[in-house]
Amino acid sequence: MEQQPRVVLGVGGGIAAYKACELLRRLTESGHEVRVVPTASALHFVGAATWSALSGAPVATEVWDDVHEVPHVRIGQRAALVVIAPATADVLARAAGGRADDLLTNVLLTARCPVVFAPAMHTEMWEPPAPQENVATLRRRGCVVVEPAVGRLTGVDTGKGRLPDPEALFEICRRVLDRGPRALDTDLAGRHVVISAGGTREPLDPVRYLGNRSSGKQGYALARTAVARGARVTLVAANTALPDPAGADVVRVGTAEELRGAVLKAAADADAVVMAAAVADFRPAARAGQKIKKRDGQDPEPVALVRNPDVLAELSAARPVPGQIVVGFAAETENVLANGRAKLARKGCDLLVVNQVGDGLAFGTEENEAVIIEAAGGETAVPHGPKEALADRVWDAVVRHWPV
Ligand SMILES: Cc1cc2nc3c(=O)[nH]c(=O)nc-3n(C[C@H](O)[C@H](O)[C@H](O)COP(=O)(O)O)c2cc1C
Repeated sequence: MEQQPRVVLGVGGGIAAYKACELLRRLTESGHEVRVVPTASALHFVGAATWSALSGAPVATEVWDDVHEVPHVRIGQRAALVVIAPATADVLARAAGGRADDLLTNVLLTARCPVVFAPAMHTEMWEPPAPQENVATLRRRGCVVVEPAVGRLTGVDTGKGRLPDPEALFEICRRVLDRGPRALDTDLAGRHVVISAGGTREPLDPVRYLGNRSSGKQGYALARTAVARGARVTLVAANTALPDPAGADVVRVGTAEELRGAVLKAAADADAVVMAAAVADFRPAARAGQKIKKRDGQDPEPVALVRNPDVLAELSAARPVPGQIVVGFAAETENVLANGRAKLARKGCDLLVVNQVGDGLAFGTEENEAVIIEAAGGETAVPHGPKEALADRVWDAVVRHWPV
């Protein structure tokens, strides 16, 4: 197997340390040479023998082992990626404070590669100002800090603070490593971005709705790539059946009205809003309280429709944050560019991603091709390829539009 870049896996003293064993497995199985650097507390949860056997490398927590090899400097210097999972409240504080009181914090100071923190702790430990300020500091410095997931915590309690699944963490590591030298340029670090994904459903009665074919895959690709580029991500997901992207806050909605509420709320402190969701233009004028029955010998009543709010136009007009960039998506079946330009002008957004849909194009597929149209006049054609490649080009365009 081709030798992959060297990875340092830092492990903090949290209950989720056992999940790091699976992350380690995935990293080594994909050909990476991994050096595990646990904290002393981490060894209360998973012992040094496990880390050493799984990584095939020595394991130390302090700077005093193998001093002739100067590990407190060398391990960080040689790393292509440092990932800390779980990152405890204590590790976040020590990293933000620039401490160097064990091997892991020494490695963090000497590493010149991308650093990914995956915090995990009880909600009560995560929410106070101190850890939140430490996270903000680390993000400002260009580290990727993955938002904890919401779910079951140590005991019977649930809430935000769970370590995302090892598979999702591995995907983040892979994405950061794939960016190569550009990964150090975490150009979305310290930014809050809001993405809508999926398709709204407008109820007609308790069992029927007016919907569309959007799977949400493009919006999820935008969320995953934004996490890997260091952003704090809010994903407003309308009727999607995809696993939550690790590191994003996911808000689930059903109708256009619900999506509007969630997006406007999240946009209040956002640096960019990307509307990749297919929001229904119309909804049934009335929603029957009971299932509409068919009546013998009678034609059904026609369905009257009313307009839904135009969320993209509303966002473009509102701009609660100076310099906020608003991006729309347009699915066109004909005259793609001309219709896209007209839509961009009508909505007042900064960028419009126009793609052709229909006949198996775009909806539900893994790949996409599009043109990114800028209000200022530019156009970038993104050739056919994975939805993540298009997502990265969208973020490139957003970054270019932020005021310096
Ligand atoms: C059973 C148990 C579970 C713990 N789980 C967590 C956790 O999930 N996240 C966290 O930040 N701290 C947790 N702690 C507290 C840390 O172990 C403690 O803050 C320790 O000093 C962290 O050291 P380290 O950051 O150097 O690994 C837990 C402690 C115990 C006893």
